[in-house]
Amino acid sequence: MPARAGLAATLAHAMLPASPEPAAPVIRLDQVSKRYPGGHEALSQLSFELGAGEMAFVTGHSGAGKSTLLKLLGLLERPSHGAVMVGGVNLGSVRRSGIPRLRRQVGMVFQDHRLLMDRSVFANVELPLVVAGVPPAERGKRVRAALEKVGLLAHEKKSPPALSAGEQQRVGIARAIVGKPPLLIADEPTGNLDPQLAVEIMGLFVEFQQVGATVLVATHDLFLIKRMRKRVIVLDHGRLVDDVAAAEVV
Ligand SMILES: Nc1ncnc2c1ncn2[C@@H]1O[C@H](COP(=O)(O)OP(=O)(O)OP(=O)(O)O)[C@@H](O)[C@H]1O
Ligand SMILES: [Mg+2]
Repeated sequence: MPARAGLAATLAHAMLPASPEPAAPVIRLDQVSKRYPGGHEALSQLSFELGAGEMAFVTGHSGAGKSTLLKLLGLLERPSHGAVMVGGVNLGSVRRSGIPRLRRQVGMVFQDHRLLMDRSVFANVELPLVVAGVPPAERGKRVRAALEKVGLLAHEKKSPPALSAGEQQRVGIARAIVGKPPLLIADEPTGNLDPQLAVEIMGLFVEFQQVGATVLVATHDLFLIKRMRKRVIVLDHGRLVDDVAAAEVV
């Protein structure tokens, strides 16, 4: 009966969760391999996707290819084969002149944080905005917002050597987020920190995910991975050997 069918259809519709179009993945690797000149294959036929607003860890033994993966995403290296897509852009098609624009979409945090030691905390965090041509008044606001986020507003005039290791790492994170990039990638961001501080820093990344950023963190810290309960991508000699959903992390 049409009326019944209509009712059934209405009910079915009411009971179905709203299903918006799934967002395009922010990261997509398709059969990516990387061989350094004169070296063996650091990544082999790696394929995976990371959706908008998703957070994942990349783990694996030393030399597994974690840093290489992040370098491909930040355009610090190019793949030997396969396609790396970030925000729908095939990085293989990005010319040298387009690299700064792409980098503004990708906040990068390094284990050794790579701060300018003779410049103030403020100047370090401001740098990406200077490069991007953001006007000074706007820069001040954004730098202070980023420093507040990582709890370092009171230290803006100091130089990095006057800060602890954890504080320096947080300056690096502030610098990575100051441009509000949709994608944040971090290579062993807690490698030099004690466990308590590591958990705090990781909490910051979770906060960025909660406000909509996509976050990929390389770490070999299993304690942290278990504690955070996020998706885990496992590399072994350049190959993806496991991809554990957040709900399955025990
Ligand atoms: N610039 C380079 N030139 C030649 N080989 C390299 C280069 N960078 C990395 N490799 C090699 O590629 C492989 C993967 O290195 P990668 O730094 O990606 O590993 P990783 O998982 O980050 O290790 P770690 O946990 O020690 O940081 C290793 O065998 C490494 O020696
Ligand atoms: Mg590494």
